[in-house]
Amino acid sequence: MTPRRVAILISGGGSNMVALVESMTGDHPARPVLVLSNRPDAAGLEKARRLGVPTAVTDHRRHRKDRAAFEAEMNAALDAAAPDILCFAGFMRILTPGFTRRWAGRMLNIHPSLLPRHRGLDTHARALAAGDSEHGCTVHEVTAELDGGPILGQARVPVRPGDTPQSLAARVLEMEHRLYPAVLRRFAAGDRTPVHLP
Ligand code: GRF
Repeated sequence: MTPRRVAILISGGGSNMVALVESMTGDHPARPVLVLSNRPDAAGLEKARRLGVPTAVTDHRRHRKDRAAFEAEMNAALDAAAPDILCFAGFMRILTPGFTRRWAGRMLNIHPSLLPRHRGLDTHARALAAGDSEHGCTVHEVTAELDGGPILGQARVPVRPGDTPQSLAARVLEMEHRLYPAVLRRFAAGDRTPVHLP
């Protein structure tokens, strides 16, 4: 079977992108074809280049409030790579319903909480403030609903006494790097059975 073509969208360091790219080898049913960032200074772009993955930048600051123009430019860069699957990995722009309709059924995102708990930002601080005994990350299909969409995988970590948002984030990030590749491998093979770690 021809490998599924995966584009990974980032805004920052791209550690999840690295984990995904490095997982797509051997008998894995997918291969990375593009790493796209909305920020020209994203550190992940250099990491992608070192890994030999083509990169593109769609600078959202060039489109100020015009989301449609930003997304039209992003779609042009994506169409040039003809991806079958989009993996959002630390991508920090809100997508319009027009974009999520166009790519419906082919988009994954990783969110650093056990959805549906803690949608949105600052999830680690909020988990601590809520006194959660456990926390974690979720990979879900992207729909028009922010941090909504069918859940394709979750990884749990214990919250420990003395945890700070930083120590908790580090523990969650380690699990993200295991969960996202596991979910992508199944999704690329057409299997939507949720992954649960540990
Ligand atoms: C991670 O916590 C991820 O859950 C969130 O963005 C953060 C940075 O990810 N989506 P990365 O290192 O840029 O992959």
